[in-house]
Amino acid sequence: MPNTEDSISRKLQSLIATGELRPDPAQMVIARRLDHLAAELVAGRAARKSNALGWLFASKKKDHPPVKGQYIYGGVGRGKTMLMDLFFDQVPIQRKRRVHFHAFMADVHDRIFKHRQKLKSGETRQADPMPPVASEIYAEARLLCFDEFSVTDIADAMILSRLFSELFAKGCVVVATSNVAPDDLYRDGLNRELFLPFVAMLKAHADIVPLDTQTDYRLEKTEGLPVWRHPLGPETDMAIERVWNRETAGVVAAPSEVAFRGRKIAVPLAAGPCARFSFTDLCERPLGAADYLAILSRYRTVFVEHIPHLGPERRNETKRFIMLVDTLYDAGARLFASAVSEPADLLTAKKEPRASSSTGQYRGSSRCRVRSTPESTKHKMWIDDVLVTEILTFT
Ligand SMILES: Nc1ncnc2c1ncn2[C@@H]1O[C@H](COP(=O)(O)OP(=O)(O)OP(=O)(O)O)[C@@H](O)[C@H]1O
Ligand SMILES: [Mg+2]
Repeated sequence: MPNTEDSISRKLQSLIATGELRPDPAQMVIARRLDHLAAELVAGRAARKSNALGWLFASKKKDHPPVKGQYIYGGVGRGKTMLMDLFFDQVPIQRKRRVHFHAFMADVHDRIFKHRQKLKSGETRQADPMPPVASEIYAEARLLCFDEFSVTDIADAMILSRLFSELFAKGCVVVATSNVAPDDLYRDGLNRELFLPFVAMLKAHADIVPLDTQTDYRLEKTEGLPVWRHPLGPETDMAIERVWNRETAGVVAAPSEVAFRGRKIAVPLAAGPCARFSFTDLCERPLGAADYLAILSRYRTVFVEHIPHLGPERRNETKRFIMLVDTLYDAGARLFASAVSEPADLLTAKKEPRASSSTGQYRGSSRCRVRSTPESTKHKMWIDDVLVTEILTFT
C-alpha cells in the first residue's frame, strides 16, 4: 500500500525545497490535516477489502465511523485550491472527482432533468429524482473535491440539503475550498431558512478549516504583469487572450450565468475563478452594484475588454464603470482590461491626454479602486496606489 501518512505535507515540503512555493506555516497545518484524511480514506477502503464479508456488507455495516471531509475557507490567493489539488493528486483512491462547484451543480440539474424525462416517458416510476441522482454520483466518486464552493442560486440552495443528505448517507466525503465560512453561504439569499439545514449537515460531515495566512500569493504573481492593455486592436486582443490562457491554466472555458434575485446575468466566458466580459456586457446593460457583487461572489478574476472613451456622452456607462471598479476593489477581486487608452486618458472630457506609454501596458498588481473625494463631485480611480484618473460624476 502506498504510504499516505504524510504524502501531501511531503509533497508541499518538496515544492518548497525546489523553490516553487514559499514556506507557509498555515498551509502546512492544512496539508497535515489532509494527510490525515488521505490516510483515513485509504484505511477505510483497506478495511472493507480485508475480508469478503466486510467488502460485501460494507455499506450496511457501520463498523467504521464516517470519514469527515474538510471545508477550507479563506481570502483570495491564499493557496486553498493549490492544497486541495495536491491532496486530490496524492490520495490513492480510484473513485474521486475534482470539480468546480458550479460545474457540479450544473451537472446535478442536468441529471435531475434527465430523470424527469425518464419519469415522463414511463422509463422509471421513481418520482423523487434525488435518490437516483445521488446514487449515480456516488457510483462515480466517493470522494468529491469541490473548488470554489459558493451558493448564489436559489435553485441550488433549495436542493443542496436533500442532495447531500443522500450523498453523506452513502458515505461520500467532501473536500471543498471557499471564500466564505459555511455560516456565510447564501447570505441574504431568498428563503435562506430552507438552506440552513444544509449548513448544519456540512458542519457535521466536514471539519471547517480557515486558512489563516496573510499572503495573497496570486497577487504576488500578478505583480509587474500587464493588467491594462491599450490601444484597442488585434495586438491587444491577442495579448489579452494570452493573459486569459495563462490565468485559466488549462481549465476549459465556456459561457455561463450567475443567477441573482430571479434573474440570470450572462457571463460570456468563464473558467474556474475567471470570467471574461466586454465593456458592453457589463456597462451598457442595466446592471447595478448588486449585480456586480453577485458576479464577484463567483468569480475572483474579471476580464473587461474593449473599454471605450468615457465621459458625459456615456453618462450611464461611465457611472456603471466607476461602480464596477469600486466593487472589484471592495471585493478584493482582480481586473485585467483592454481599453482605448491608458486609464488616465479614458475620459474624453480631459483636454490634454498625457503622453501615452510606449509599451501600451500598465503594469501593476491589478487592484483597482475608485473613491469619492470629500467634496464628492469627483471620483478618483487608482490602480494599486497610483492615481490614474479623476472621473467626474455625471449626476
Ligand atoms: N506558499 C506559496 N508560495 C508561492 N506560491 C503559492 C503559495 N501558495 C499558493 N501559491 C500560488 O498562488 C496562487 C494562488 O493560489 P490558489 O489558487 O491556491 O489560491 P486560492 O486560495 O484558491 O484563491 P481563490 O480564493 O482566489 O480561489 C497559485 O498560483 C498558487 O500556486
Ligand atoms: Mg481557489
